[in-house]
Amino acid sequence: MRDFLQRLPKAELHLHIEGTLEPELMFRLAERNHIALPYADIDEVTEAYRFRHLQEFLDLYYQGMDVLRTPRDFHDLAMDYFVRARNEGVMHIDMHFDPQAHMQRGVPLASVMQGLLSAVRHAERTLDLSVGLIMAFLRDRPVAEAAALLEQARDYWPYLSAVGLDSAERGYPPGRFADVFARAGELGLARVAHAGEEGPAAYVREALDELGVERIDHGVQCMADEALVERLRREQTVLTVCPLSNVSLGIYAAVTEHPLPAMWEAGLNVTLSSDDPAYFGGGMLSNHLACAEAFGWGKSTFLSLGRSAISAGFMPEARRQTLL
Ligand code: HPA
Ligand code: ZN
Repeated sequence: MRDFLQRLPKAELHLHIEGTLEPELMFRLAERNHIALPYADIDEVTEAYRFRHLQEFLDLYYQGMDVLRTPRDFHDLAMDYFVRARNEGVMHIDMHFDPQAHMQRGVPLASVMQGLLSAVRHAERTLDLSVGLIMAFLRDRPVAEAAALLEQARDYWPYLSAVGLDSAERGYPPGRFADVFARAGELGLARVAHAGEEGPAAYVREALDELGVERIDHGVQCMADEALVERLRREQTVLTVCPLSNVSLGIYAAVTEHPLPAMWEAGLNVTLSSDDPAYFGGGMLSNHLACAEAFGWGKSTFLSLGRSAISAGFMPEARRQTLL
């Protein structure tokens, strides 16, 4: 099964590039940029990565990315992950990135974009990997800041596939960002949003109705709302589900408790992703293996999940045809 899952052509639709920062690279970049880390060694980092909920993770996630300063840092971060993912059979990645988390600490948008875009070009040339870019807004920052970022990113609009919405969910309903998402839609960008990760099923409905999103990141809390499940099934809305992430953040006690099998049985358009692989115990292959073990899924289920993700990825149609 491991061989099969590794070889299976996979598209990862929910991946935060800042969440791929492995402790080894964090130490290397800290040294290069003369930054003191709050950890003595890699064991201390691993020890710190025990989260009870989303906010505990976010605190370390935003702290960890402080080592990213120059275009070269962003390039190295992304290439490091692209190589690992490609070795796990990942052929396409829709990659979230969080400009506000960098600009807030004085790193210019241009540094982030130069580094990420050069890595994407390099991966597409050398790794047979395609990459879509999702510029994410932080929902726990002011709406006006998100609106300003979208305008500031004008030079990069042609390189973006979509806008997204992430960070702390509870108490930050998606509808607040309706105008920003409407503007993104006018610019021809696709729209996705995290909803129903820790927050309620109502946020999933709100993201669909008020933000016009075509995909929901996570969405697992939809299972508490029968009418919403029926709608998601009817509309075949893509849900980018991240089982190891959900367990790491205490949403479920174990993968065996995860609602993925029930979501699949309900006819929902689920796909598998890793979210923040450096923080949540592994990448695409680990997530697939965890599902195989916990749910007893066979090859046909994984083939079908893989095709769903490839069908929904932000990639040129010619590329899609080579992967299907
Ligand atoms: N949820 C919300 N925001 C995030 C996440 C997540 O899992 N990862 C990075 N930003
Ligand atoms: Zn996420």
